[in-house]
Amino acid sequence: MQTVIKELKTMQPGPALVKASGWVRTKRDSKNVCFIEVNDGTCLKGLQVVADKAVFDNNLLNSISTGCSVECEGQIVASEGGDQAVELKATSIEVIGDAPADYPLQKKRHTLEYLRDIAHLRARTNTIGAVARVRSKMAFAVHKFFQENDFYYVNTPLITASDCEGAGQLFQVTTLDLANPPRLEDGRIDYSKDFFGKHTSLTVSGQLEGETYATALRNIYTFGPTFRAENSNTKRHLAEFWMVEPEMSFCTLEGDMEIAESFLKYVFKYVLEECDEDMEFFSKFIEPGVKDTIVHVVETPFAHMTYTEAVKELEKHGDKFEFKPFWGCDLQTEHERFLTEEVCHRPVIVTDYPKEIKSFYMKLNDDGKTVRAMDVLAPRLGEIIGGSEREYRYDVLKARMAELGLREEDYWWYLDLRKYGTVPHSGFGLGFERAVQYVTGMQNIRDVIPYPRAAKQADF
Ligand code: 4AD
Ligand code: MG
Repeated sequence: MQTVIKELKTMQPGPALVKASGWVRTKRDSKNVCFIEVNDGTCLKGLQVVADKAVFDNNLLNSISTGCSVECEGQIVASEGGDQAVELKATSIEVIGDAPADYPLQKKRHTLEYLRDIAHLRARTNTIGAVARVRSKMAFAVHKFFQENDFYYVNTPLITASDCEGAGQLFQVTTLDLANPPRLEDGRIDYSKDFFGKHTSLTVSGQLEGETYATALRNIYTFGPTFRAENSNTKRHLAEFWMVEPEMSFCTLEGDMEIAESFLKYVFKYVLEECDEDMEFFSKFIEPGVKDTIVHVVETPFAHMTYTEAVKELEKHGDKFEFKPFWGCDLQTEHERFLTEEVCHRPVIVTDYPKEIKSFYMKLNDDGKTVRAMDVLAPRLGEIIGGSEREYRYDVLKARMAELGLREEDYWWYLDLRKYGTVPHSGFGLGFERAVQYVTGMQNIRDVIPYPRAAKQADF
C-alpha cells in the first residue's frame, strides 16, 4: 500500500524518494517555488509539496488548481515554514484529474447549508472530513468497548412486523400496488397478499430481537441503522439514524446506568486519544472549547436524579420554558437542556419516568405509576441515550400490554422470554449521530451523517 499523507507528515527527512497522492487544497506562488497543499483526507492538514520553478514546466504548474488530483514524488525534507515539520521537495508531479474553475469548493469558506447541497463533495472540506474521521473512530470504539467486555455483536433485522417503541413512527414496507391494493370484505387492505404475508415496516429499534439474544448469550449489542418517520424538522432528528443498543441479562437499572456511563466515557476518551488534530479543529472553529468539555466529561461522574426530582427542579423555573413542565409531561428538549446545562453542569441520568410516557416493555416500579427507565441527557443536545430495565415478570408484562392494547399474538415470541427462564435484564440505545454531534460540537445532526434522510430530504 502507498504511504498515506498522515504517515508522510510524520516521516524523518531523508534521501529516499516517496510518493504522495491526493487532492490539491491550495496553491501559492513565491518567486522561485510553488507551494501546493496536497490532502488525501487521512488527516486534517495536508502535506506541503514544494515545486522548484526552475525544475518544473510552467504549463504543468499552471494546470494545478484547487480540487485537482495529483500524484507527486520527491524527498521528505525539513520545512522552513513555521507551520509544518516536514514537506515534500518534489521531483515529479502528475495531474491525474483536473478540476476546472467551476469546482464548487474553492478556497473561501462555505456555509454548512451550502455544503449540504453538495453532499457528494463535502467530505473534501476540513469540517466534514474531520467529522467523518471522528465518526469512524467512534464506531470502532463502540465495537472495541463491547468486545473487550464480553459482549457479542448481533445483527437484528431491519424489516420487522413489530413496533418496538409503540410511537407509531413506522415506515411501511410493501410491494402491494398502491393504486390498487387487494382489499378485505370490509374494505381494509389485505396484507396477507403482501410480500411478507403481513403488514411490515422498517425497524425503529433492534431491542426486542436483541433481548432474545441477550437471554441466550448474556451480553449483546446491536449497531445498525434504524428508521423513524419523524416529522419534526429539528437539529437532532433524522428519519434514518444509527443506534447502538446493548442488552444485558442478570442486570438491573443500576448496572444499566453504570455501563452506559463507562461506555460513553470510553468512546469519548478514545476520540481524544486518536483524533487530537480534529478535536483541536472543532474546539477552534466549530464549538469553542469542545475538546476541554469532553475531557471534563470523561473525568467527572455523571449526575443522577429521578424524573420526579427533575420536574420539581423545572417547576421552580417554570417561567423560563415555552412548554410549562408538570408531573406527567414528557420532558421537552428545553427541559432536558436546562437540567444538564443549568442544574447539573454535566451529563445527567434521569430515572423513573411515568409509565404513560414510556414504552410497554419497561419494568414497573412498586408505586405502580413509574417505570425503571433512564435517559442520559447531555448539554447542548438533551437526550442522547434512552434505556431501561425490562419487565421480566410474565404476568405484569401481559397486563401492561393489555392495558396498551398490544396484541399478544404479535408479541408471542417476546412473551416467551418471560415464560422460559426469565431473568432481570436491561439495556439502552445510544443515538450514534447525537454522540458524534456531542463530541464534535456540530450543531446540526444533518452534518454528522454522510447523507441525511429527513422529511422531504432523500437526495444522493
Ligand atoms: O429513546 P429511544 O426511542 O429508545 C429506544 O429505541 C430503545 N429501544 C433503546 C433501547 O433501550 N434498546 O431511542 C434511543 C436513542 C435516543 O436517546 C436518541 O439518542 C436516538 O436514539 N434517537 C434519534 N436520533 C436521531 N434521530 C431520531 N429521530 C432519533 N430518535 C431517537
Ligand atoms: Mg427516548
